[in-house]
Amino acid sequence: MKDKDYLMIPGPTPVPETVLMAHAKHPIGHRSKEFSAILNRCHAGLKWLFQTENDVYILTSSGTGAMESAMSNLVNPGDKVLSLVIGNFGARWGKIAASHGADVEVMEVPYGQAIDPEALKARLAADTNKEIKIITLTHNETSTGVTNPLADLMAVIKEHGALSVVDGITSIGAMDCPMDKLGIDVLVSGSQKGFMLPPGLAFIAVSERAHEARKETKYPGFYFDWVATRKSYNQETTPWTPAVNLIVALDAALQMLQEEGLQNIFDRHTKNAQILREGLKEMGMKLFVEDESIASKAITSVYPPEGVTVPEIRKTMKEDYSIVVANGQNDLKDKIFRMGTLGFVCERDVLTALASLKATVKKLAK
Ligand SMILES: Cc1ncc(COP(=O)(O)O)c(C=O)c1O
Repeated sequence: MKDKDYLMIPGPTPVPETVLMAHAKHPIGHRSKEFSAILNRCHAGLKWLFQTENDVYILTSSGTGAMESAMSNLVNPGDKVLSLVIGNFGARWGKIAASHGADVEVMEVPYGQAIDPEALKARLAADTNKEIKIITLTHNETSTGVTNPLADLMAVIKEHGALSVVDGITSIGAMDCPMDKLGIDVLVSGSQKGFMLPPGLAFIAVSERAHEARKETKYPGFYFDWVATRKSYNQETTPWTPAVNLIVALDAALQMLQEEGLQNIFDRHTKNAQILREGLKEMGMKLFVEDESIASKAITSVYPPEGVTVPEIRKTMKEDYSIVVANGQNDLKDKIFRMGTLGFVCERDVLTALASLKATVKKLAK
């Protein structure tokens, strides 16, 4: 019998049956009172998850759409953007900013490392004329499995005063990312990650400071414009036709998350990642990120054992056990593989994946 594929990739992540059933309902009109009530509940739930009093907008796009929204609403041609890059997804910010005419400076570290707050402090201290308008950073870098020391980096950014634009795409709903406490200006995420939903929605929380900055933006674009988005948000609707069924599913998913509670969600991710890392080490496998203080709770990158290749592992895991694990990206392709513990994942899933990996390696080892 062909079993269902079990996704242990960092997105899309597994979706609970309750959420799938909600998604499967007949669509309802997006200008109806019924839909406004669902939308309002979702907005309240998202504010809870983002730990913010700011508006959190629901966009019909993947996570990159929310990144685009941040840049199109904030960047004027020639604006200086400092992009903190620790992997593939961090690099995306700079590319988007440049496409809106920004003058992008990249501060990067070798893959597998996090940004050092002291190095950032030194760079920002040199910006005596306060030329840097925006600083972009990634909370959890999915391509490597490294989590930046967000609170320390945010403290340095706040001291400088630039607008902080943070990718929380694989951290929201998995790790503590308190927007208001840390003073983040713009925080983005995507549905197919910690939200336990299929792909198709993005989320963007926008501070008053960022809304103020938007007023000076000459070419904010149309579809993602925060002025239109905010106007509709205040009228309990969306500017354009939203992905109605995904929002109905979001309502169900947020209810599940709220029943679990924020701290329990974070603890579950911490525990599952620990079990995975310990299990991998017990099997004699080498972790790509050995420093526990920056190792992600959502995604673990691993080197294949001697004599076994990444494509072989991925193929056998999928064919023999219907478990899908991710390859490395760019320079790390076929050098590491990545196992997700993000979203709707329980301890049994992790133990099953470890046992399957063990059997896979045994089968493949020459
Ligand atoms: C950290 C991070 N940022 C951005 C993205 C891009 O999101 P999407 O593929 O939903 O556009 C991803 C997707 O995996 C991600 O993990």
